Amino acid sequence: MSIKLDKQIILEELKLISSLASLEELRIKYLGKKGLLSLEMKSLSSLSIDEKKTKGQELNTFKSFFEKEIQNKRSEIETSSINEKLRKENIDATLPPRNFETGRLHPISQTTYKIIEIFGNMGFSVKSGPDIETDFNNFTALNIPDHHPAREMQDTFYLDKKVLRTHTSPVQVRTMLETKPPIRIIVPGRTYRSDSDSTHTPMFHQVEGLLIDEKSTMSHLKGCLIDFLKEFFEISDLKYRFRPSYFPFTEPSAEMDIAYTKTNNILKFGEGDKWMEILGCGMVNPIVLENCKIDSKKFQGFAFGMGIERLSMLKYGITDIRSFYESDFRWIQHYGFNPLDLNSTSGL
Ligand code: PHE
Repeated sequence: MSIKLDKQIILEELKLISSLASLEELRIKYLGKKGLLSLEMKSLSSLSIDEKKTKGQELNTFKSFFEKEIQNKRSEIETSSINEKLRKENIDATLPPRNFETGRLHPISQTTYKIIEIFGNMGFSVKSGPDIETDFNNFTALNIPDHHPAREMQDTFYLDKKVLRTHTSPVQVRTMLETKPPIRIIVPGRTYRSDSDSTHTPMFHQVEGLLIDEKSTMSHLKGCLIDFLKEFFEISDLKYRFRPSYFPFTEPSAEMDIAYTKTNNILKFGEGDKWMEILGCGMVNPIVLENCKIDSKKFQGFAFGMGIERLSMLKYGITDIRSFYESDFRWIQHYGFNPLDLNSTSGL
């Protein structure tokens, strides 16, 4: 066989090839009409029968070797060009890194959700009412008639014939007028009083509780509030006390305090011999039941009300109530909550 049909040479030539076009050139060089192999084939006719047979076989083996190598090379080139194309067309479908921490849940929302969760588990449902109330719902029905000194307990913002509600208690009235007992509701919402210092803002939040049925007693009220505070502050041996108090809409009335200590300006809850007022409560005054068209001989119940800011300040160590409403970005970054945090109870 001529040197031009050396397998080794072909393998060397193939090694240098990297495109389909030059592969085709190589194929033509050997297998084209005037290709080296074709010429050799043609030259067979001038040989004797025996020589034809041997040379013919040799050429056929060479041809199939060559075709196989060409085929291998072709798929090698095709695969690498596909890979190259894929590499170039590759799109990074992942989003650029995002700061999930940016949006924050305000501590008031977080506290409200927590309160709803705890009372929700006790069977209370959530009710709401308007911020602008009638004098009747905010005062009169709650046994605070005109010129009653109790009106001065709450510095009211008066609007033309109406008031900005000074507490969430008018929703008690609305609910009793709308629904028949048994009633078991809590009412978180905005309230307004003309007051502003480090512990008062003109707008603040309260949560009201109301339970009306035929048998509820003061001890049910106490049990309910004790369980709530222990769970809210996550202190199982919370030290507390109930102190007699006065509200026109409850009789008897009480305020609940929790014990605390203050060392180096750091407050610690649940123990100590200082007392902090947390909420007001009592058995619903029969006068209020009658004002709300509920038979006070048949039904009784209890009510309570507490400030959400105060609970939030105590739980999260916030010292100035005004900071809740300053919209300071650094403050919300610090005191706010991650809405995606599965441990939070924000999933209402
Ligand atoms: N409404 C009272 C307040 O704003 C709180 C309260 C509610 C007290 C229900 C007793 C019962 O101070």
